[in-house]
Amino acid sequence: MKVPLCIPFIEEAEKKAVIEVLASGWLAHGPYNKKFEKAFAEYVGVKHAITMNSCTSALQLAIEANEIKGEVILPSFTFVASANAIIKAGAIPVFADIDEKTFNIDPADIRKKITKNTNAIMCVHYAGQVCNMTEIMKIAEEYNMIVIEDSAETIGGLWQNKQAGAFGIGCFSFFPTKNLTTGEGGILTTNDDKLAERVRALVGHGITTTTYDRLEKELSWFRSATYAGYNFRMSNILAALGYYQLQKLDKMNENRRKIAERYNKGFSQIADITIPYQDVNAYHVYQMYVICVKDKNKRNNFVKILNEKGVGASVHFYPPVHLQYFYKDKYKCSLPITEDICSRCVTLPIYPQMTDAEIEYVIKIVKESI
Ligand SMILES: Cc1ncc(COP(=O)(O)O)c(C=O)c1O
Repeated sequence: MKVPLCIPFIEEAEKKAVIEVLASGWLAHGPYNKKFEKAFAEYVGVKHAITMNSCTSALQLAIEANEIKGEVILPSFTFVASANAIIKAGAIPVFADIDEKTFNIDPADIRKKITKNTNAIMCVHYAGQVCNMTEIMKIAEEYNMIVIEDSAETIGGLWQNKQAGAFGIGCFSFFPTKNLTTGEGGILTTNDDKLAERVRALVGHGITTTTYDRLEKELSWFRSATYAGYNFRMSNILAALGYYQLQKLDKMNENRRKIAERYNKGFSQIADITIPYQDVNAYHVYQMYVICVKDKNKRNNFVKILNEKGVGASVHFYPPVHLQYFYKDKYKCSLPITEDICSRCVTLPIYPQMTDAEIEYVIKIVKESI
């Protein structure tokens, strides 16, 4: 049997919507963007949601639209996009260590990394679990800092019943491995009217209206560029896909949680691995199911054996960002917990439509391979 790491869950509703858009002739930013943005903002519980081409663009614009040029504290245990976005926006990444149980940024280490130049915290909700937002919001308030939530991996996750992306500025990814997909895509969420207006303009060349917005207006050809912006837009085709994925997000997340529970039971007796920790305050949506092996020297071979036996296991993430070639000299630091977890973590297959046979197969192969 072969069980891939993940498979996007696309059904008839999404296929029909994409064909409907193709037939309509309106392929660029259009009516489905409006519909998806409204529905996503309501889902997260914020005033604004702005669709774009990726989460990386959302992260970059969250910083750029706030004119942050100082230091931004983030974890190094993340995909390199989080830090790249800070640099591309003209700010400075400062890495903090993670909590050894949740693998999310450690609020105590954030405090240690604060300097007079710190402007923002970029917390990353790792693998489907929201960070300790009670502590992070407290620090941000104390030091008057902006909070950017890199929620690429956590769509529909909660902290004390509040959605990821509703605490600070939310940045989500719709890459095919994520809980909701549009192939490539992202969205930014905020309650700040001014920020939303600015981000909307920056997404479309700095022009404050889109062609679709101007359609029925007088002088529809008049385009006013307020900023030197980008083309970070999401197409109407992908927005239609996203809109129908959102309708079944909760169901997909429930399935992920059920699979995680079955894995937890299946692995509970294995002394050589630890299962993912779930904070009592968090509703974990398991974008990834990440275990750790006890012995770091055995990790790579373990993943290799799983792959050979048809289990699409992987590693998220190694190396950590602060040890990546581009970062290791310029942003030198020591992060003992991050470095330890990076060398012992293993991601196992998880996707909402996983069958009983696939789940049982993964459990069996993990048990016999460890
Ligand atoms: C934590 C994190 N941030 C940012 C990104 C980048 O997302 P995108 O591919 O939509 O730009 C990812 C995607 O893998 C991610 O996992």
